[in-house]
Amino acid sequence: MPEIESPQRQMPDSLMLTGFWYRALPADRVHHNQLHKALLLEIPLVIGRDRQGRPFALRDACPHRGMPLHCGRFDGENLECGYHGWQFDVHNGQCQLIPSLTADQKLRVDRIYAGSYPCEVQDGFIWVYIPEEGPQGAGFTRPAEAPDAAPQIEKFSDKYKVAYLTAEMPVSVDHGIIGLMDPAHGPFVHQAWWWRSRHSIHEKQKHFEPIPNGFRMSAHTPSSNSAPYKLLRLYADADSITTTIDFTLPNLRTETIRAGKYWFSSLTTVTPITRDHCRIDVVAAWNIFRWVPFGAELLKFVFAKFVEQDRRTMELQAEGLEHNPHLMLIDDADRPAKWYFQLKAAHLEAKRTGEPMKHPMSGPVTLKWRS
Ligand code: FES
Ligand SMILES: [Fe+2]
Repeated sequence: MPEIESPQRQMPDSLMLTGFWYRALPADRVHHNQLHKALLLEIPLVIGRDRQGRPFALRDACPHRGMPLHCGRFDGENLECGYHGWQFDVHNGQCQLIPSLTADQKLRVDRIYAGSYPCEVQDGFIWVYIPEEGPQGAGFTRPAEAPDAAPQIEKFSDKYKVAYLTAEMPVSVDHGIIGLMDPAHGPFVHQAWWWRSRHSIHEKQKHFEPIPNGFRMSAHTPSSNSAPYKLLRLYADADSITTTIDFTLPNLRTETIRAGKYWFSSLTTVTPITRDHCRIDVVAAWNIFRWVPFGAELLKFVFAKFVEQDRRTMELQAEGLEHNPHLMLIDDADRPAKWYFQLKAAHLEAKRTGEPMKHPMSGPVTLKWRS
C-alpha cells in the first residue's frame, strides 16, 4: 500500500516550497499607482505598480511596528506607512525617510528595509519570487535576488492570443496539484454531452519520462475523445497532432499541442495561499482561432467549465478532509501523484544535504489506467 506520507500530514515547511517563483495576481487587476493585498505561502504581501508600471511586492507589514503597508499612501514611487510616516522605496524596500528624526539624530535610515520580494510580469500575471529565507520584514535585511526569470509559456509564432482564468480551491496545494495531474477523475467530474461520458471509459497507456525537477508525458497523439483534439481536427491532419505535458516543481504544468503550423500552449500553476487553500491559474496562448470570431471565448468557456468542475469537486473534498482521514495512492492512476511527493521529498533532501537532487524516476515508464 502507499508508502507516501498522506498529504495533509506533512509539515507546513514541506508543504509549501520556497526558493521558487509563484503567480501572485493577474496583471490587469493591478493599475499604476495602486496597491493590492495578496497572500502567498501564508506571507501577506502588498503588490502594486510604480508610475512607470513596473510591478513590486513588499511584505505587508511595516518594519517599525507592523502596520500593514497597503493602508499607507503611495505616490507612484515611495510608500508611506500610515502610522508614523516612514517612507520606503517600493522596489527594494529601503527606508527613505523617518519624519520623527531631528537634524542631530544620526540613525542610518538607509540601512532599514521593509521586506521586499523580486517581482515580474510574465504572460499577463504578476509573479513573485519567494526566497528560501524570507525577508524578515523588519530590520536591516536587503532583499534577496531571484536566481532566474519567472517561468513563461512557450510560443511558436510571433502572433498569438493569450487568455487566463483563475479559481480558488479550499484544499492544500498538494491536493490541488495531484487533482490536476489525476487521470482517473475525468469521466466522473468532467461529464458533459459535448465532451464525453462515463460510457467512453477505456484503457489507456501513456509513456512518461523524467525531466529536471519533474516528469513528462511524452509527445503523443491526444486521446480521440478530448476537446482540444476535436477542435484541432478541424485544422490539421489527425496524425500530425501531438501533445506533450510536463510537470515541474514546485507547481508548474505545461501542455503543448502542435498541429503543423498551429499550436496551443498552456501553463497552469497551483499556488499555495495558506496551508489549506490554493489557487489554480490557467494561462493559455494559441494561434489557432485567431480568425474565428468567438474562438477565444469558446476556448475560455470550455476551460472555465473544467476548472469550475474541479473547484466544485475540491470544495466537497475539503469537507471530507476536515477530520484528517487516512488516504491512499494506487497504481497506476496515482503514480504521477506519487512522483510528485517523491520529487518534493528529493528536492528537500538535496537542499538539506547540499548534494544534487536524486530524481525518483530512473528512466522512462509506461503507465496504464482506464479513464
Ligand atoms: S508602524 Fe510604520 S511607521 Fe511606525
Ligand atoms: Fe479536472
